[in-house]
Amino acid sequence: MDKVAVIHGPNLNFLGIREPEVYGHTTLEQLNNLIAWEAQQLRMDVIYFQSNHEGVLIDFIQQCHANKVEGIIINPGALTHYSYALRDALTCFVVVEVHLSNIYKREPFRHTSVIAPVCLGQICGFGVQGYLLALTALHNHKAAKT
Ligand code: DQA
Repeated sequence: MDKVAVIHGPNLNFLGIREPEVYGHTTLEQLNNLIAWEAQQLRMDVIYFQSNHEGVLIDFIQQCHANKVEGIIINPGALTHYSYALRDALTCFVVVEVHLSNIYKREPFRHTSVIAPVCLGQICGFGVQGYLLALTALHNHKAAKT
């Protein structure tokens, strides 16, 4: 079974509360439940983590190495646009970057991702569905390699 970590960055604990017109009405708990359902269909083993703190996210990503996590799905929130430390931490993993909103349609500062260059790919603009697409992408990536 593929072992995957789904990591939610700053402010994503406020899903459903913060700017629902941009990020939707689904709460983080509901989102994790949707991911869990999809993971079960794909026979993937998923662990979940959310933090508002860059260093705590990096500590968790480093633990993923010891925990034999094979793939990471991450929505780094605003850290996407400037965190070189988070980017460096992700380089040991197969990563899919997810954004609920289409960051390229929004303010100019959101158009840059310093994370994307170390990722397998980026999915943005599809709301919560993006996480389910990311799971499928990791699943198919592993299947193509084995
Ligand atoms: C986001 C987009 C980021 O620019 C923003 O800071 C977020 C959420 C998204 O999912 O669309 O917190 O990552």
